[in-house]
Amino acid sequence: IQGGFLTVVVLGASGDLAKKKTFPALFNLFKQGFLPSDSVQIIGYARSKLSNDDLRQKIVGYLKAEKNALQDGESVTKKFLNLISYVSGAYDSKEGFVQLDKAIQSVESVENEGPDSSRSTRRLFYLALPPSVYPQVSKMVHENCMNKHGWTRVIVEKPFGKDLSSAEELSKQLGELFTEDQLYRIDHYLGKEIVQNLLVMRFANRFFIPIWNRDNISNVQIVFRENFGTEGRGGYFDEYGIIRDIIQNHLLQVLCLVAMEKPVSVNPEDIRDEKVKVLKAVEPIRDEDVVIGQYEGYKDDPTVPDDSNTPTFATVVLRINNERWDGVPFIIKAGKALDGRKAEIRVQFKDVPGDIFKCNKKGRNEFVMRLQPSEAMYMKLTVKQPGLEMGGTQSELDLSYGERYKDVVIPEAYERLLLDTIRGDQQHFVRRDELKVAWEIFTPLLHRIECGKIKCLTYPQGSRGPPEADALAQRAGYNRTYGY
Ligand code: BG6
Repeated sequence: IQGGFLTVVVLGASGDLAKKKTFPALFNLFKQGFLPSDSVQIIGYARSKLSNDDLRQKIVGYLKAEKNALQDGESVTKKFLNLISYVSGAYDSKEGFVQLDKAIQSVESVENEGPDSSRSTRRLFYLALPPSVYPQVSKMVHENCMNKHGWTRVIVEKPFGKDLSSAEELSKQLGELFTEDQLYRIDHYLGKEIVQNLLVMRFANRFFIPIWNRDNISNVQIVFRENFGTEGRGGYFDEYGIIRDIIQNHLLQVLCLVAMEKPVSVNPEDIRDEKVKVLKAVEPIRDEDVVIGQYEGYKDDPTVPDDSNTPTFATVVLRINNERWDGVPFIIKAGKALDGRKAEIRVQFKDVPGDIFKCNKKGRNEFVMRLQPSEAMYMKLTVKQPGLEMGGTQSELDLSYGERYKDVVIPEAYERLLLDTIRGDQQHFVRRDELKVAWEIFTPLLHRIECGKIKCLTYPQGSRGPPEADALAQRAGYNRTYGY
């Protein structure tokens, strides 16, 4: 990557997110030559008193677990670890951040032939931290660590607030410190291969352009299932719940890409303008369009209160009031401790008019995009039953990435998004106004759940979730002749 010496500062370096996602993503970029040793350094910052080696030890296990390790993995890992150093300090300590700035300056000056060098430098701050400390940490970064010889960029992780007013408050605080082009709000679903493919698939194929609308599409399902529960994150999770954890961000972003109009160009601002427009057309959510659930045993976690009404499962039907989508329900479903791990988009088409082959009762046309596991896109359609008979049967046109793109290594979401940040491409990041509308959509519902107006149904671990959710999807028009 061109553009001067780069320092990546990982704030919250000893935390879970940094160990599991941030450092491994940096490692993958390093392995592929995107972070050359002579022009990059990585500094971890956290409260724990650690030496450089302690931090390296903490992350090495996660690096080794990375897929696609190179043949000479050991020495590559070593070289990567050598780029990492550590500064310890509190998140509200001026002294800590002054130290951090000194550490950055010193790596910049060693690598950059003196602090007065005319070569520009780049500083990327990754806030792998709980949102409660964002305001103080960003203030500290702003007061003590801004780059005077090039750009400063800041990556923030969700949750961006808990509802509209807290999100607006956070946006205001961050907005006073950094400009919008310095802020990168990560939603890692935007870094997934199939999600990134959505716009290309929709707008670069003549097939899809004329049929992608209310005349042909009956309903759209966007589904996220996990086959494990909150796994020790109960305390965090109980404050947020599945709607804030998955739906208001990840699945809503996917909905935007499925439903938005064609942007005038692939410029990030043009794309995000269209996303905001479609979000603004989402109607207020009605109680009868919601089923929430909590898996049995969720409250066994000692950090979860006994009277918790926090959903670990939700099905919400969203309705978009515009010319393209009026009358087409978007069934959004997410749950933990379900019967499998999968994320997919199912676009279900209407029945065939004048059904001479009696194919409608066998199942509808569907276009399915599987985000994970094993990326795939396939079309469910009716073909002649091969052989002597003339009847129709259901089959698939299948593009499974593992088969078709055998030699391509699909990058991890965080890896792509980090590279985008370094390159200054905000297309796959959430803009402030997008975030605001996303909260406008869900805040009234979240408040109704919090005051107990809508109650969680319980469901057994390893199940499909409450049967009422399937009934809701069916009421909304989803025909489950086959499929999930
Ligand atoms: C995170 C949520 O944002 O996404 C987790 O906080 C969830 O609860 C995770 O498990 C799912 O991400 P992925 O990429 O595994 O689908």
